[in-house]
Amino acid sequence: MITLPEPTLRRIEKTLVAVFPNHPVAAVLSTVIQPDAPPSPGQRLYPGSITLAASEWAALAAFSLPKRRAQWYTGRLCAKQAVARYMREHLPQLPLPDSRGIVIGNLPSGRPYIETRLAGLSGLDLSISHSGDLAAAIVSTAACGIDIQVDTPSLELVSERFCRESERQLLLELPGGDYAACLNMLWTAKEAAKKAARDGRMPGFLELVISRPSPAGEGCILWSARHDDDTLHRLPVTNILTTRFGQYAFSIALVPGESSHA
Ligand SMILES: CC(C)(COP(=O)(O)OP(=O)(O)OC[C@H]1O[C@@H](n2cnc3c(N)ncnc32)[C@H](O)[C@@H]1OP(=O)(O)O)[C@@H](O)C(=O)NCCC(=O)NCCS
Repeated sequence: MITLPEPTLRRIEKTLVAVFPNHPVAAVLSTVIQPDAPPSPGQRLYPGSITLAASEWAALAAFSLPKRRAQWYTGRLCAKQAVARYMREHLPQLPLPDSRGIVIGNLPSGRPYIETRLAGLSGLDLSISHSGDLAAAIVSTAACGIDIQVDTPSLELVSERFCRESERQLLLELPGGDYAACLNMLWTAKEAAKKAARDGRMPGFLELVISRPSPAGEGCILWSARHDDDTLHRLPVTNILTTRFGQYAFSIALVPGESSHA
């Protein structure tokens, strides 16, 4: 049984504002919605009030696997909702477009972006993630990344592919004592940092060095990621907020001081 996404998100948002006061963000977390099923009671993203543009319905039709269809669809709805929430909170002077007018595209690398040319949106970065029964999206004036991951036993078996020895020591020192749960937090922190890296090749897991974890309130950890070869400058130091709820780890990465030009 997972904690409802909404309280979790509010908890993280409160911390984000305190940690990154100069970078407004809007984030949305939702249970996965089937594009072809009627909405279930209590569903937060109500298809109908948020929906895809014609080009996005066409893109959805290309996915045949039901799980991928639902995750892609819900990621899109979360992204549109995040853009709308950002506009309501930070650009209240602008009229809110119909959700079909907020079109989300992917660059050839897979990185998502807001295709729509609307005043105020051109400087926003966007990130999307989905895992298990949940999907999430974030928009920010800073380069950003989001990652959610349901606990997976196999993560421990492949930990050498993404966790350095220095990071293993950090995880062992984190309060709570559940190493597998902490390992998933590290995984999402690195995935979020990789997604926030906009320039050039996406860094590999072992090229990223996570350090300096500190409690950030509301059950969140704040830590940072840098590239192990500083001379490459592929990744400016990135701050990452990570938390857990139910069987999930969840991270949001922001590159402070770096404004996006999506
Ligand atoms: C891209 C990657 C970070 C996605 O993470 P994941 O845990 O598998 O899946 P998530 O659900 O968390 O994220 C998927 C979302 O990441 C986003 N994404 C994909 N590629 C991305 C990139 N290069 N940069 C930022 N975000 C990216 C997409 O929005 C995608 O969702 P969508 O396809 O529904 O739009 C991961 O697969 C990875 O590390 N890939 C490396 C592959 C690589 O280097 N690709 C470069 C190709 S040129």
